[in-house]
Amino acid sequence: MTNNLHILEHPLATHKLAILRDKDTPSALFRTTLAELSWLLAYPAFAALTLTPRQIETPLEPMMTASLADPAPCLVSILRAGNGLVDGFSQLCPEASIAHLGLYRDEDTLQPVSYYTSVPHDIATRQVILADPMLATGGSAILGMQKLVEMGVKDIVFACLVASPEGVAAVHDAFPDLPIFTACLDRELNEKGYILPGLGDAGDRIYGT
Ligand code: PRP
Ligand code: URA
Repeated sequence: MTNNLHILEHPLATHKLAILRDKDTPSALFRTTLAELSWLLAYPAFAALTLTPRQIETPLEPMMTASLADPAPCLVSILRAGNGLVDGFSQLCPEASIAHLGLYRDEDTLQPVSYYTSVPHDIATRQVILADPMLATGGSAILGMQKLVEMGVKDIVFACLVASPEGVAAVHDAFPDLPIFTACLDRELNEKGYILPGLGDAGDRIYGT
């Protein structure tokens, strides 16, 4: 594994992952827990955001401080399940724009298929957090990255909740410098491309489909 893989280590992350992994967790609790875990993941994943100096006055005296640089970062959701992560991220960073890449994984070939793209016109000038809870074969993350690079985006981190060793290796073969932030690194993929032990199909569990 490379230096560009950052695994969240925190008792609350383990606790919340246990709720997400439990097959008996209902959709409503799955959604709220995913948002809570996204706040913990945002702490390391957002650590490289650029600040700009700013003069303010506290009730007691003037001070120089700093705020998020302009333009604000862009949170890019790989639909559908990415919305679960991005919803939580945007609660912490409401200044961020939100973009959507519609990708689904063909169940037979496991290859990602692109069906929708919506991004801000100036995305190339923004810091981007590309988000998808599951990094399985890596196909969706790689296609998402290829699209962003074609758009001219230079500053990207990838955030997920559950990663497989195979997915991390595939993404880093394609994009060796991409920082990957994950809440955990699981054991392996099964023959159908599902992460073991994993949490099942993230999109289905978020949306109850
Ligand atoms: C899931 C998941 C990722 C992708 C990961 O999406 O949310 O996008 O699979 O697999 P990969 O690393 O092998 O590409 P899915 O295709 O099920 O779509 P959904 O989010 O709409 O459910
Ligand atoms: N997509 C998911 O939602 N879960 C997996 O385990 C693999 C791909």
